[in-house]
This record gives sequence, C-alpha cells and structure tokens, in this order.
Amino acid sequence: MKPETNAVAAGRSVEKSNGPSTPEQSGELSSANPSDASAARIAEVIGDLPAMPHIAAQVMERLSDDDVNPKEINELITRDQALAARVLKVANSPFYGASRSIATLKDAVMFMGFDSIRALIMTAVLKSMYAKVGLAEKLLWEHSVGCGLAARKIATEIRYRLKDEAYLAGLMHDVGKTALFLHAPDAMREIMEGVYNDGLDFFEAEQSRFGFNHALVGGAIAANWRFTSGIEDAIARHHQPELASSAVELTQIVNAANSICHKLEVGPIRKPDLDIANVKSIKALGLSPERLEQILLAVKEALQADSAGI
Ligand SMILES: [Fe+2]
Ligand SMILES: [Fe+2]
Repeated sequence: MKPETNAVAAGRSVEKSNGPSTPEQSGELSSANPSDASAARIAEVIGDLPAMPHIAAQVMERLSDDDVNPKEINELITRDQALAARVLKVANSPFYGASRSIATLKDAVMFMGFDSIRALIMTAVLKSMYAKVGLAEKLLWEHSVGCGLAARKIATEIRYRLKDEAYLAGLMHDVGKTALFLHAPDAMREIMEGVYNDGLDFFEAEQSRFGFNHALVGGAIAANWRFTSGIEDAIARHHQPELASSAVELTQIVNAANSICHKLEVGPIRKPDLDIANVKSIKALGLSPERLEQILLAVKEALQADSAGI
C-alpha cells in the first residue's frame, strides 16, 4: 500500500471519530497560524512536503545572496537542461508577458534581472510539479499562472512595490492543492465531486475532510522552500486575508487575483456571476470599477494569447 493511501485512510478515520475533540478535528485551525498540531496533521496526510528540485533550490539560494552574479546563475541553471529549457520557454511565453524575444539562457539572466529569474524558475518548477497531477493539471496550471498574472497586474495598478513577489505569491497560492492532489488523490476527487455536484465550498470541504486546508499546506511548502514570510503568509491566508499577519496587502492582492480568476472561469472553480467589485479584498485595495475592468481584460488577453505554451 502506498503511503498516501494510508494517509488518506488516516484522514477518514479522523472524520469518523466521535465528534471534534481537538482543534484540528473541529476545523479551528483555519483561523489560527499553522501550528505544530496542523503541521503534524499535514504530515500525516501528505507525508513529506514536495521538495524543490536540487538545482532550482541552489539557484534560489544564490539569488538571495547580494554577491551573486549573472554568470554564476547561468552556469547553475545550465546544469539542469530540463530546467534551462523550461526557463527559456517561460521567458518567451506571452503568458509570462516578456516584451522581447529571449534567445539564450544567458540573455534571460542578463536582461530580465534576478527578480524575474526567480519568478521564471518558480514557474518552471511549478509547471513540472503540476504535470504530475493528471486530469486536473491543465485547469490548475492555468489558474495558477492566471492568478500570478492578475496579482502582478493588481500590484502595478496600486503601485505595490514588490511586483515579482506578487506574481510569485499568486502563482503559488494553490500549490497546497497540488500537493493534496498528488498525495491524497481519492479524497481530493471526492471533494471535487462534492463541489461540482452538491455545491460544497472547496476550502470548507477540505477543512472538514482533513482538519486543515490547501492554503495551510501551501504556506508550509513556501516555508520549506524558504520563500519570504510575506509570500508564506499570503499563500497560507489567501482565503482569509483578514487573518494575514505579516503581509496584509500582499494577501489581499492574492485573494483579489484569485477572485478575478474565479470570475473569468480560469481554473477548476468558476463563478462567472461573482460580483467582483464587491469582493472585500478588491474594495480594500481601492480598485475602481474602471481599473478592475482593465485588469480583467489584461488577464483574459494574456490567457488567450497562450495558455498551453509553457
Ligand atoms: Fe485557494
Ligand atoms: Fe485559487
């Protein structure tokens, strides 16, 4: 029996116990910081959190060092040919929004800057991770990139300084869902069925099934991959921006970007009738109906330009 099968069984046994007796069983963890108890439950269901590929991890580590130089980054990425090829593909995709053609990896590193390279590497890493999910892959992938694009566009509109951080947080906001699809596929499929057939709320269905939700899993992955605490917070709280602790604005940006993708029907959750202008985070960010319209249009165009190119 595969470990994940055991893990899913463990999830079920919690559900079938005699009523909630611990915070994680009652779902209270959704309103607290990921605690040791939730970390233990996540480990029980998922096993080891997904690891970042070796070379990508090294590149990310070097990029966080002030003394890093482009040559070194170029040489590191070249050691992983699959990663190098994917980075180039992403750099040239209209999905990513590069304004010029990037011929070589060296060009990508030279011209795009280290912040953009971080975003490119993570897009490449996530793409290969999503490729393992199977059926839901395309929808989840489009949703992730759509959300990254929307978050970056919002950041530009409201003059939020860290645009690449907004892109990264948007791109990765549902990475916990991917980890759950990989490690607890049966349970996740049942949750999906409940969402489609019975109108269940995805987040709440996860909470009652597992005792935690994909946002907390994503936050744990971001911490493991040594992302900034702001990105970690934004991922862990993207469904509850009011609970963000270290990055309130970034969390609202990701929440707003997520809602925009739901409205545009980008991904598995579709809410074409959503009254987007009245979404709390969108109001809190001060996005006027005109600017909102521009963002929706820009995201739609970017997605239509090339949804499968990377
Ligand atoms: Fe989510
Ligand atoms: Fe999402």
